[in-house]
Amino acid sequence: MRICCIGAGYVGGPTMTMVARKCPDIRVDVVDVSAARIAAWNSDNLPVFEPNLDGLVREVRGKNLFFSTDIEECIDKADIVFISVNTPTKTYGYGAGSASDLSYVEACSRTIARASKTGKIVVEKSTMPVRTADVIKTILASSGRKFQVLSNPEFLAEGTAVRDLESPDRVLIGGDEDSEEGRRAIETLASVYARWVPEERIIKTNLWSSELSKLTANAFLAQRISSINAISALCEATGADVDQVAKAVGSDSRIGSSFLKSSVGYGGSCFQKDLLNLIYLCEHFNLPQVAQYWRGVVEMNAFQKKRFSSNVVEGLFRNISGKRLAIFGFAFKENTNDTRESPAIDICKDFLSEHAKLAFYDPKVSKAQICADLGIEENDPRVEFCDSPYAAAEGAHAIVLLTHWDEFKKLDYAKIRKSMTTPAWIFDGRNCLDHRLLIGLGFLVRGIGKGNLS
Ligand code: NAD
Ligand code: UGA
Repeated sequence: MRICCIGAGYVGGPTMTMVARKCPDIRVDVVDVSAARIAAWNSDNLPVFEPNLDGLVREVRGKNLFFSTDIEECIDKADIVFISVNTPTKTYGYGAGSASDLSYVEACSRTIARASKTGKIVVEKSTMPVRTADVIKTILASSGRKFQVLSNPEFLAEGTAVRDLESPDRVLIGGDEDSEEGRRAIETLASVYARWVPEERIIKTNLWSSELSKLTANAFLAQRISSINAISALCEATGADVDQVAKAVGSDSRIGSSFLKSSVGYGGSCFQKDLLNLIYLCEHFNLPQVAQYWRGVVEMNAFQKKRFSSNVVEGLFRNISGKRLAIFGFAFKENTNDTRESPAIDICKDFLSEHAKLAFYDPKVSKAQICADLGIEENDPRVEFCDSPYAAAEGAHAIVLLTHWDEFKKLDYAKIRKSMTTPAWIFDGRNCLDHRLLIGLGFLVRGIGKGNLS
């Protein structure tokens, strides 16, 4: 069997590496229009930072895993073609700011139709709006050859991709359950995953349930974060502690404890875009009340980011003009170099609009990426990029912690405190530091949902 995956991004690269690792008899080709991305996958400097991914890629690359720009040839030779390209929010015309931009998916479908001399199984790996499979089927049908379209959304989270792929909670496969060919295609794909995923974790559904389940899963996860963040505002007003509330609430086995960590707001390339897409679908199907319900999750996230940046300005005597703020972390979460939709972007833009000076430290995000995200030049006098958190904090009025990197918990804060301007503030946007200890060291500390600690 041969597999081709179109799209060598955060999903396509790691996912196909795992398939190749678990199925030594299957040849896997990952193709992309970006020659730079393919070159990076073929180098020692992978385009995606994920714990334990490097070793895995090295094990299988050149054996049964290949990265290439030879898109049409790899498609033609494959039995199964995955579409794992980006599906961003549309920025123009009909549905701008909410609908999914399916132009990349459509381009892939046309390439598959053109390049394939024989029929194949085509798998939606990207997150798609419900009924996108119809679009793909229609384009493929125009080729005159027989294709089966399956939906097989990916549930990995960045930073834990290898673990999630190795031991997924479930693998979801949606297909045409009503036809013999459809059922056979579902079984063929299931047999690939069955090499390492227990049968009971492979869920088989119809196409639309599978497409909708992916959007719903992300909406539920984002909703939990917005729910606890909403409560964090109430905690600050009442003196309750949001971590204590989350623990008490999450101990109820019906509720569960995960995704109840209050923060500066969720980021990442998918929660926002998938929620907006869900809202768009609800509106499209004339369900304005359902759309409004989910819109609340998005609005709460924006409110949380704004509330945090205002709290920083408020704490620093309503004036951060000319003050140095040490920004600890810029990635949207720990253990990734990804900054897409990172809360740090909006928060730092707020600081810059208040004329603050920002000194950045993130262990994995580059200077060029931060500047591109903030829309500033690399030599902008308002920003500085530091090699260590100690250097960033030197002379700063405040530390603003935005990403939950483990190393921030292990720093010598007594040493840091001495190097800062006083009064020295720490705004812990992830509630990951020991606030009592920091107060003991003389810091003024403000967390999320903790009220005014000092
Ligand atoms: P990405 O932007 O990292 O990668 C997409 C890749 O597709 C890019 O390298 C791009 O050059 C390539 N591409 C675009 N059009 C192409 C074409 N016509 N032919 C060949 N290559 C093409 O995106 P990603 O983060 O990997 O996400 C891909 C999909 O998976 C999205 O739908 C996303 O919602 C979904 N998803 C992402 C994650 C995640 O953690 N990032 C998790 C689950 C699902
Ligand atoms: C999320 C989902 O967890 C994956 O299942 C899904 O496949 C993926 O989106 C996708 O479709 O792209 P990801 O965005 O990589 O994965 O990372 P998460 O761990 O979900 O974190 C998302 C954001 O929420 C981060 O900014 C994180 O810091 C924040 N978060 C997470 C909280 O603020 N509190 C929490 O309790 C958990």
